[in-house]
Amino acid sequence: MESLDRKIHWENIYQTKNFEDVGWFQAKPETSLEFLEKFNVPKDAKIIDCGSGESYFVDNLLDLGYQDITVLDISEKALEKVKKRLGSRANKIKWIVADISSFQPPEKYDFWHDRAAFHFLKEDEVTKYLQIIKENLNLGGHLVIGTFSENGPTKCSGIEIKQYSENTLSQVIEKYLKKIYCFTIDHITPSKSTQNFMFCGFQN
Ligand SMILES: C[S@@+](CC[C@H](N)C(=O)[O-])C[C@H]1O[C@@H](n2cnc3c(N)ncnc32)[C@H](O)[C@@H]1O
Repeated sequence: MESLDRKIHWENIYQTKNFEDVGWFQAKPETSLEFLEKFNVPKDAKIIDCGSGESYFVDNLLDLGYQDITVLDISEKALEKVKKRLGSRANKIKWIVADISSFQPPEKYDFWHDRAAFHFLKEDEVTKYLQIIKENLNLGGHLVIGTFSENGPTKCSGIEIKQYSENTLSQVIEKYLKKIYCFTIDHITPSKSTQNFMFCGFQN
């Protein structure tokens, strides 16, 4: 899918769907939050959530006292909805509307989070995205990626995705970063179907 078509697709999703009804909805992003604990991410760490959509990750980060949070998505509408939800707390967040495979980070980060955006990228976009991450993740900083696993769905939001195993995800990312650990975990969608995810944490 070309970048423009991709943007149109996602703007349309966020214009027409309630967050509580989409397959990737999580009342609390427990797995992502556990990585912060495991990696001992300090409260003043620079955190970026790439392809955040309407995720509650940012709300939880604020609740936990994180002070330097950037939220990025290709969809302006998604970010508008999150800003509205956060009310005055939205002023504490840095907002970026951009495509992960071509954006130019304005600063470097200590914790880079991507749940279910990476798996949409084609091979050349994966390379570009990983170069962006490598150049803009501080030394010692962590990357957390969650994708559909090889036992998961083949499409997400109606778009073909690339499924990853621990091996295939590590192979592509270990050219840039050191793998810490990976695991699979089931996500139960609002319509009660099961989606198997592959989560991996890496360090620069
Ligand atoms: C399946 S949703 C996951 C949302 C969120 N990470 C979560 O876990 O709830 C994928 C998100 O990635 C965004 N996205 C897809 N491709 C993107 C790209 N190339 N650049 C930036 N965002 C993208 C979509 O707009 C959407 O919000």
